[in-house]
Amino acid sequence: MTVHSELPYNAEPPRGALAGTTLTPVDAFYCRNHGPVPEADGSDWRLRVGGLVTTPLTLSPAELAARFEVCSETATLQCAGNRRAGLVAVRDIPGEAPWGPTATATAVWTGVRLADVLAAVGVVEGASDVEFVGTDVSDAADPPQEFGGSVPLRKARMPEVLLAWAMNGEPLTPVHGAPLRVVVPGYIGARSVKWVDRIEVRDRPSANFFQASTYRLLPPDAPVTGTPGEGVELGLVAVNADFLLPDDGSSHPAGPVTVAGYAFAGGDRTVVRVDVSADGGATWSQADLGEQASTWAWRHWSATVELPRGETEVLARAWDSSAALQPERPEHVWNPKGYVNNSWARLRLHGA
Ligand code: MTE
Repeated sequence: MTVHSELPYNAEPPRGALAGTTLTPVDAFYCRNHGPVPEADGSDWRLRVGGLVTTPLTLSPAELAARFEVCSETATLQCAGNRRAGLVAVRDIPGEAPWGPTATATAVWTGVRLADVLAAVGVVEGASDVEFVGTDVSDAADPPQEFGGSVPLRKARMPEVLLAWAMNGEPLTPVHGAPLRVVVPGYIGARSVKWVDRIEVRDRPSANFFQASTYRLLPPDAPVTGTPGEGVELGLVAVNADFLLPDDGSSHPAGPVTVAGYAFAGGDRTVVRVDVSADGGATWSQADLGEQASTWAWRHWSATVELPRGETEVLARAWDSSAALQPERPEHVWNPKGYVNNSWARLRLHGA
């Protein structure tokens, strides 16, 4: 793993570790933390569900499993800071880690539907948002506070949103949220709150630092003040793609070379096409698309390009089911906190 920081632990795998398999092995799954990983003993863990509800509930993971239908969903998580390095190369982004293209990964998540739990507590009239709060306290927040965030009630009631205790058929590891995490498919990874012990039904979005003051898109010329409410709250993931193989900067005999990568549509959209170009975008060919494991999962793709002698920049760009196309250049999407770099993927290859 490339470790961006030890404490809090932030790390992403080499590109190749994500290639060749739709489901990401847990040890290649990126880790994104804003505070220390809590030491949790699952046996005394309790989830409190309250706020604008008729019957607040306190439940252990075992009670959740016994009381509600257990189900699984294949879903990709993608950090809003994925591919930030491409923005940093345009203009420095002080204080933010230069994540490469692998702050994204896919797993089968197992747990219960948040919708079923919300039905059991009885959401009252006027509720509009559902907030999740973890037990980890982040010093990066002002003031220091537990990590949290919310999603609209209509999303929280969708069957794909889970309270999960397992990942790829194994119990969650501590760093990925054991004993319980939220999984909000289609939304930025920040809403999939780990170590969740509190759910609050509200009449407005969360005031947590990680929703009200950060994970927000600011105009390029705006100073970062951290004032709650500035800029635009991030939620649905925008269509994105990058290369996984071969390595950036690698050398190959001139001639046909196979390139491969991932594409993720976000929201409830899917990837419908990936184009690849080895001549700066003058001509494009269509990549072969891999399986669509679920509406909520990325698609892997591969293509063979003709590599000339010398340096070549191979391009890739994905289209989603709403006909949205990735923007061309990182300069076009640069923003002061370095979120949502979904510009065309670029891979430098040397033809020998
Ligand atoms: N939940 C808590 N409690 N604390 C965190 O720091 N990080 C969020 C989210 N949930 C975070 C959290 C972010 S920004 C992302 S991208 C995902 O967790 C990453 O999940 P992972 O570390 O399991 O890959």
